[in-house]
Amino acid sequence: SQTDKEILYKIHEIANDFFQQQLFETEEGKSVGYSYFKERDLRDDIIRKFQLGYSPEQKDSFTKFALDKNYSKEILEKSGLSIFPENTPTGVDRFRERVMFPIHSFSGRVLGFGGRILRNNVKTAKYLNSPETEIYHKSNVLYGLNQSKQAISKNNLCLLVEGYMDVIALHQAGIENVVSSSGTALTVEQIKLIKRLTENVTILFDGDSAGIKASFRSIDMLLSEAMNIRVLLFPDGDDPDSFSRKHPQEFVENFIKNEAKDFIDFKAEILLKDAGSDPIKKAESIRDIVKSVAFVQNSLKQEVYLKEVSAKFGISEQSLFNELNVQKQVQK
Ligand code: UTP
Ligand code: MN
Ligand code: MN
Ligand code: MN
Ligand code: MN
Repeated sequence: SQTDKEILYKIHEIANDFFQQQLFETEEGKSVGYSYFKERDLRDDIIRKFQLGYSPEQKDSFTKFALDKNYSKEILEKSGLSIFPENTPTGVDRFRERVMFPIHSFSGRVLGFGGRILRNNVKTAKYLNSPETEIYHKSNVLYGLNQSKQAISKNNLCLLVEGYMDVIALHQAGIENVVSSSGTALTVEQIKLIKRLTENVTILFDGDSAGIKASFRSIDMLLSEAMNIRVLLFPDGDDPDSFSRKHPQEFVENFIKNEAKDFIDFKAEILLKDAGSDPIKKAESIRDIVKSVAFVQNSLKQEVYLKEVSAKFGISEQSLFNELNVQKQVQK
């Protein structure tokens, strides 16, 4: 309900203050959380800009804090910040002993959190995120949009990355037109948020097989929404965060500008590397690229792209058009 929503916004604001206060003003927060961010070379101004925080080890520190402020068990449960297991008298915090990343709406309200474990360990998920709530729908939110919207408009370009730390590291490197879909498949709603600011997107996904897979899906989604896209793959398992910490700002800027390819060159490079000299695999690669061209929302652009494919692979334009029409039927 409307009043529930208002209370949920308020409780997230309070939680956001709480986690930041833990990070900066408690011994545990300073020695565990703050030092974690320092190990990752984050400057104080960036920690503040993204309102990063820390959730303590104690199992109910936030829940107690909120109950003391007279928030009800029911609303705490609805917020996703507390869990009240059956047959136990008290509630526990969802986020414990994690560094905290608040997730903001377009206009800057806190909707939820991502929390990262401090040591990479195989037992638990690296990032824990807020569940779907009345105010947080993950498919409608892009991480970093609130901090990046002006730079996206100004540059008339949106960089799309995989993770929280990628957005933050690029901001620290002076590249501020960047958002993240937070490791999930890009949605139409998220693309529409970008479209309010620009029609140009450069995909900067991690240089691993998961990154490549995600970029292929995102390419087709973005083409379906008539966006102009370029794609950049980072070398040897790097992501924008690790890459931007290895190289000076100007190098990173030029790398993004110069190495981003159009989607055909990008897909061709990756698929052909896989195919080697196997003719069947080569044909599959071409079909895969034509499949993406079928998502292009303008027949003139489609023709230009098919000419590019034709020249690149030495396949007649006629065969490619036939395949395009097959693919368009499939998509309907
Ligand atoms: P990555 O595995 O690439 O992590 O996931 P990362 O962002 O590089 O994290 P660091 O650098 O190790 O801290 C990309 C994004 O996928 C989501 C997060 O949004 C993450 O930033 N993700 C990943 C989850 O939600 N849960 C996970 O367990 C892992
Ligand atoms: Mn809703
Ligand atoms: Mn990854
Ligand atoms: Mn990554
Ligand atoms: Mn990373």
